[in-house]
Amino acid sequence: MPKKVLITGGAGFIGLHLSRSLSNQGYHVTILDNLDRGKADRDFKDLIKKKNVKFVKADITNPKTFHKLKGKFDYIYHLAALNGTDNFYKIPDRVIKVGVIGTLNILDWFVKHKKGKLLFSSSSEAYSGGLNLLKDRFPIPTPEGVPLIVENPENVRWSYGASKILGEVSIHAYAKTHKMKNFTIIRYHNIYGPRMGFEHVIPQFIERIVKKENPFNIFGGQEARTFCYIDDGVKATQMVMESEKTNGQTVNIGRSDDEIKIIDLAKKLFKIVGVHPQINIKDAPEGSVKRRCPKVEKLKRIGFTAEIPLLEGLRKTYEWYKDKF
Ligand SMILES: NC(=O)c1ccc[n+]([C@@H]2O[C@H](COP(=O)([O-])OP(=O)(O)OC[C@H]3O[C@@H](n4cnc5c(N)ncnc54)[C@H](O)[C@@H]3O)[C@@H](O)[C@H]2O)c1
Repeated sequence: MPKKVLITGGAGFIGLHLSRSLSNQGYHVTILDNLDRGKADRDFKDLIKKKNVKFVKADITNPKTFHKLKGKFDYIYHLAALNGTDNFYKIPDRVIKVGVIGTLNILDWFVKHKKGKLLFSSSSEAYSGGLNLLKDRFPIPTPEGVPLIVENPENVRWSYGASKILGEVSIHAYAKTHKMKNFTIIRYHNIYGPRMGFEHVIPQFIERIVKKENPFNIFGGQEARTFCYIDDGVKATQMVMESEKTNGQTVNIGRSDDEIKIIDLAKKLFKIVGVHPQINIKDAPEGSVKRRCPKVEKLKRIGFTAEIPLLEGLRKTYEWYKDKF
């Protein structure tokens, strides 16, 4: 019997790639999404045409959503969230509601039928408070066990990071109360690739290169980051879900090799596109973190290695984006 999978947020960036990969492997996939951010574009329409893919358009903040779902699931990937920096400032109440109420609703439903395994997607944002406050004393590459701190509750940017922290706390609280071991928390770190939206440094650089910006403005540029191509991110997500070794654990998903400064990221994209603009360095945005890199030992221990080098991933991403502007 093919395994049954539920993916909340399955119309979004990671969710769609994950749904496509699992459906190609023969899993029965149910996508649950309200299309708030996910788009019913050609990729999505093609995907839900498949016999083993079902789409349920519903809002996770409504508790009835989950109880209306038919059948039981072997794997539940909870990816739905309202991210996007603009949303953190413009509709922080909604960001919190989706992140917290949505997660509590799925937990209430999950502990009732106690079947399958639940994977909650948290974020590197959950520990960015510690990173900002502790500065040089904060471990980088960052392991999973660091403290999660809300740096400033008055700054609504924290609606997202705080909702991820509370999501993680909620999973542990339900696990303890209901004696459940079949869950894993993942923290994604800069997953990139086709259909990732337009709010991230990579599509934004591509847009400005395509529009022939010269001189090319870079704000800061010395910040070091790591990027993980979506195919690797999807593979890691599935491996974490399907490994019993990750039950009850938090696992970073990303990579710790391939660290690169933002200015060099821009230069790699120039090389791919074949342009040579003059670079104009401007002040770094306020509060920008110098270095962010996950420790990925836990991921390695379940046998995962990233396969797509940055240059190849950027090339594939550019190919997808180049006609979109
Ligand atoms: N992409 C990354 O690098 C990254 C990094 C850290 C964490 N994450 C987390 O991973 C998950 C997936 O990220 P993504 O980049 O694919 O985001 P995304 O915005 O592309 O996808 C999220 C999906 O959730 C859906 N959604 C939002 N509110 C909903 C609601 N109330 N009911 C039902 N569906 C709703 C959206 O329509 C969207 O399709 C999110 O939880 C995100 O916070 C991603």
